[in-house]
Amino acid sequence: MLRLLHIIATPRGEESRTLQISEPFLAAFLEKNPGWIVDELDLGNEALPSLSMKSVSGKYVLLQGKEIFGSLRESWAEILQHIERFKTADLFLLSVPMWNFSIPYMLKHYIDLIVQPRYLFRYREDGSVEGLVKNKKMIVITSRGGSYGGELERFDHQEPYLRTIFGFIGISDIVFIRAEPMDMGEEMQKRKIVEAKEATLKLLADFHA
Ligand SMILES: Cc1cc2nc3c(=O)[nH]c(=O)nc-3n(C[C@H](O)[C@H](O)[C@H](O)COP(=O)(O)O)c2cc1C
Repeated sequence: MLRLLHIIATPRGEESRTLQISEPFLAAFLEKNPGWIVDELDLGNEALPSLSMKSVSGKYVLLQGKEIFGSLRESWAEILQHIERFKTADLFLLSVPMWNFSIPYMLKHYIDLIVQPRYLFRYREDGSVEGLVKNKKMIVITSRGGSYGGELERFDHQEPYLRTIFGFIGISDIVFIRAEPMDMGEEMQKRKIVEAKEATLKLLADFHA
């Protein structure tokens, strides 16, 4: 079985515009690809471990090329589980609205947990970085209250950030589907959701596992 990890970074459940696009996409995806399962990670309902002084020190242990050892192993057990769940997925779907020109904090928290040296990236001897999540695709479905084409593009710290951080760990094949603007009238909202749904189906038609 191949596994699609669906990372949900909106707490709005049934009210979510982003999920109005992701959910029919996933249903169509599973219909077309019966050999896959969807593993849903709902960050709004997930008690992610906090990054305390102790747990953060693990990152520095790894940066020194050492293993997580002693009592750190216990505080890192959950972090390692999240890293493993991420790293062993075959495809990623991110459902993420724009929050304050960037990403919701729960997704940033998740990224801060999983992006660890030795597991998701490593430094080569010449100082360059090697991303360790190789040959995997990511689909990002996003919705935004406003619209960030043209002059307002410089306010968009969401897409450039996500491309940078996931590119850093090796995922360079990232497709974005944007529904925007969502908060400028109901008619516009409905139209843009329909257009985004159509874009996901077009993407699916071209998708080969
Ligand atoms: C805390 C918060 C911050 C937001 N910040 C922005 C923003 O910076 N730019 C924007 O265009 N929309 C912003 N929005 C609006 C959402 O991006 C928009 O309503 C989106 O469709 C919500 O997606 P959802 O329904 O899937 O949660 C914000 C919404 C919230 C709740």
